[in-house]
Amino acid sequence: MKLARSPLALAVLLACGESGQPPQKKDPAPRVDPVAPQQAVAEVRSAVRCEECHEPYVRGWEASAHAQAAASPYYRALGGGDDPRCDRCHQPLRAALDRDEPIHEEGVTCDACHAIRDVKLDAGVAAIDFDLTSNRKYGPLCDARDHYFHRVGCSSLHAESRFCAACHTLAWPTQAGPKLPVITDFDEWQANDLNSSSCQECHMAGEPGEVARGWITRENVSRHDLFGNDLELRRIGVGLRATLSPEEDALWLDVEVTNLAAAHSIPAGLAGRRLVLLVRALDPEGAELGREERSYARILVDGEGQEAPFIRAIRVESDSRLAPGERRHERFKVPAAAASASVEVLRRGVAPAVAEALGITPAADSQVAAVDVAIERKDRRYSGSGRRPRSP
Ligand code: HEC
Ligand code: HEC
Ligand code: HEC
Ligand code: HEC
Ligand code: HEC
Repeated sequence: MKLARSPLALAVLLACGESGQPPQKKDPAPRVDPVAPQQAVAEVRSAVRCEECHEPYVRGWEASAHAQAAASPYYRALGGGDDPRCDRCHQPLRAALDRDEPIHEEGVTCDACHAIRDVKLDAGVAAIDFDLTSNRKYGPLCDARDHYFHRVGCSSLHAESRFCAACHTLAWPTQAGPKLPVITDFDEWQANDLNSSSCQECHMAGEPGEVARGWITRENVSRHDLFGNDLELRRIGVGLRATLSPEEDALWLDVEVTNLAAAHSIPAGLAGRRLVLLVRALDPEGAELGREERSYARILVDGEGQEAPFIRAIRVESDSRLAPGERRHERFKVPAAAASASVEVLRRGVAPAVAEALGITPAADSQVAAVDVAIERKDRRYSGSGRRPRSP
């Protein structure tokens, strides 16, 4: 496994910015390593090799989007895998190693994150400093010891949001006009009052246990699936309440959707993601009488004004995402014959029209919150409200 650039280099400095130009920074002084320079070959391994000692981490990571970063059909449909502009975040080890090295197919794999020695942020552009040659796995533990399989590297960076910002900040250049904001979680987190928690404290908080099999018990075996058991973080993230309001003209349903627990806007991540508020009026037998949708998203459009993925977009059409702590009120008119209403918040990864244009089958919407509202009409008195999520 030779390094793509210079086999003599001990460190590879990669630009993670939009320009693809190397950052204006000198390589850090080479470390004193017991490896002769001419033998300085990259020491990276597949996630499979970590399983023997770190099994729960591998299971968590496999369930996360990080393991799909090179393979997701949506990514591939946009040219990912062939477009080098995408590699630095989706296939970081491909950008750093020989292109035929198969490990890049693992996307954001263990060694991609644990070979990161430093992240520099400059005006929203991140530069990652990888150490690929010392077989050192950088992580938050500072009292762990080197052993025959790998060395360890005490890194406070791994517990900081700046680490995630290495990839979770993306502004895309357009031919004319300003860069498009595509992924802004880190900037929003930074601007937010709730930022006393790091990305890791919300997305990776674990339990006491063994970091390595048969080793000592530690306070925190951090989760690598990013959303907790059964996507718990997604469910606690969104608050939902619905109340009936009888008025002269009609019966109304007042719905409140709240960004309860995220330190950034929701839906987070890539522009075009949606949270959809879906209200369905049901008759006494449960048959649908009507439905209405409201959605929250940052929508990018192309020259024709059609919603488009960021690489084809020229401007932001609208941004209705919920800021941290924000409550959004919506009103729906309830049909006279309705006996109940079903109120749901769904996550939609990609708009159906965009998926169709790209020729991919989008994943089904997934439910993040739901309440049912019963409508009693005895003596012209209406009742019923819901605030507790029913289990999805
Ligand atoms: C997206 C980047 C990323 C990927 C991919 C990743 N990790 Fe981690 N890992 C981290 C971060 C960040 C921490 C520190 C978390 C904290 O401080 O709460 C960590 C912590 C650890 C630790 C130290 C103990 C602990 O729980 O804090 C081990 C061991 C570990 N990861 C193993 C793995 C293995 C094995 C894989 C692949 C199956 C993997 N990691 C994939 C980012 C990553
Ligand atoms: C033969 C067993 C073994 C294998 C295989 C193994 N590790 Fe480890 N790893 C350990 C032990 C032991 C520790 C230290 C645990 C402790 O002190 O609690 C550790 C610690 C770590 C840490 C924490 C470093 C720090 O300073 O915070 C990371 C990160 C890590 N391993 C990543 C990996 C990755 C990635 C792989 C696969 C490429 C891997 N390990 C494979 C045994 C192993
Ligand atoms: C080396 C680049 C890189 C680093 C570092 C990184 N991520 Fe990611 N992350 C990605 C990519 C790429 C994806 C999208 C994968 C896909 O869906 O194809 C992703 C996806 C995610 C998702 C899933 C979103 C979804 O739609 O399910 C979450 C949550 C996330 N990352 C959180 C984090 C956190 C928290 C950290 C810091 C501890 C972090 N990431 C560090 C590149 C990275
Ligand atoms: C205070 C807790 C908290 C912190 C801190 C936090 N998040 Fe989140 N994050 C959430 C919650 C809750 C959700 C789920 C919201 C939802 O389902 O729409 C979420 C969702 C996400 C998603 C998923 C987007 C998608 O596809 O639906 C990404 C990506 C993400 N966060 C990245 C980050 C990054 C990067 C940081 C640090 C800069 C961070 N988060 C900090 C709570 C947090
Ligand atoms: C600066 C880092 C960065 C670069 C460069 C980057 N991405 Fe991403 N991408 C991310 C992160 C982080 C996510 C996760 C956000 C989320 O899941 O909502 C992501 C998610 C995606 C997704 C969603 C995947 C899914 O299955 O839902 C697609 C598609 C995508 N990127 C395409 C691309 C393409 C194509 C390129 C190159 C033209 C590219 N990205 C360049 C960081 C980057």
